[in-house]
Amino acid sequence: MFETKASAPIGVFDSGVGGLTVAREIIRQIPNERIVYFGDTARVPYGSKSKDTVKRYSRQIVRFLLTKDVKAIVVACNTASAFALEDLISEFDIPIIGVIKPGAKAAVENTKTKRIGVIGTEGTIRSAIYTEVIHEYDREAIVLGKPCPLFVPLVEEGWLHDRVTDEVACRYLNEFKDRDIDTLIMGCTHYPLLRSTIMKTMGENVFLVNPAYETANSLKRLLDENNISSPEDLIPKSEMYDFYVSDAPRKFVDFANSIMPVEVETATQVNIEEY
Ligand code: DGL
Repeated sequence: MFETKASAPIGVFDSGVGGLTVAREIIRQIPNERIVYFGDTARVPYGSKSKDTVKRYSRQIVRFLLTKDVKAIVVACNTASAFALEDLISEFDIPIIGVIKPGAKAAVENTKTKRIGVIGTEGTIRSAIYTEVIHEYDREAIVLGKPCPLFVPLVEEGWLHDRVTDEVACRYLNEFKDRDIDTLIMGCTHYPLLRSTIMKTMGENVFLVNPAYETANSLKRLLDENNISSPEDLIPKSEMYDFYVSDAPRKFVDFANSIMPVEVETATQVNIEEY
């Protein structure tokens, strides 16, 4: 039986830096929670890898996070949520949530036309997981998917507001234009950082769903329901968040400090293949 202390940290993992968009929503929405974050910077990207590979990587990371005595795990990566979440939930005796269900639910709750667009990595879109989950909430919804792989390197290059990024966004998103979607799921960790570019391209009448935001919200509910929400202000802020990576900690720290609401001083490198 799963037992834990409410003051234990939340494990959050991603293929690299992208999942920090989820970590920062958790920090904003549930600031009392400690976080142990793992970014698989040695093996990123997951978006172009096979399901079996992503499942193997995800299992290793969960095993690593369990050594940090986490009380729950958030699969912050859309691709890992698409390919591995189901298996992780059945294999490990700890609450685990991904980013797909919260994002899909928010889209269904918002759409009026029942026409929903989804953008993500090749893996996420190929898996059709968003369509599957959206149909669990509403069988009639029409879901249109589009992989946008170049968004990831553009974000990591810091080109959040740039003519090149505008051009790439136009090319990718144009096909949604005459298809009457009123809701678009930003189904990849990096895409919320391109929110203003995506909004400019799609027009203000299309509602953008940020699965990172929705996931932090779901996590809050999960912790409450399991009676494992952290008690108030137990630890100094500087000790609340621990970051681990599988490669290049300096680069990770620089990116983290460009988007996080707290200062990230270090990231510890671990050999994830050992887990
Ligand atoms: N984190 C991945 C996702 O949300 C994007 C980067 C990658 O391809 O690994 O799907």
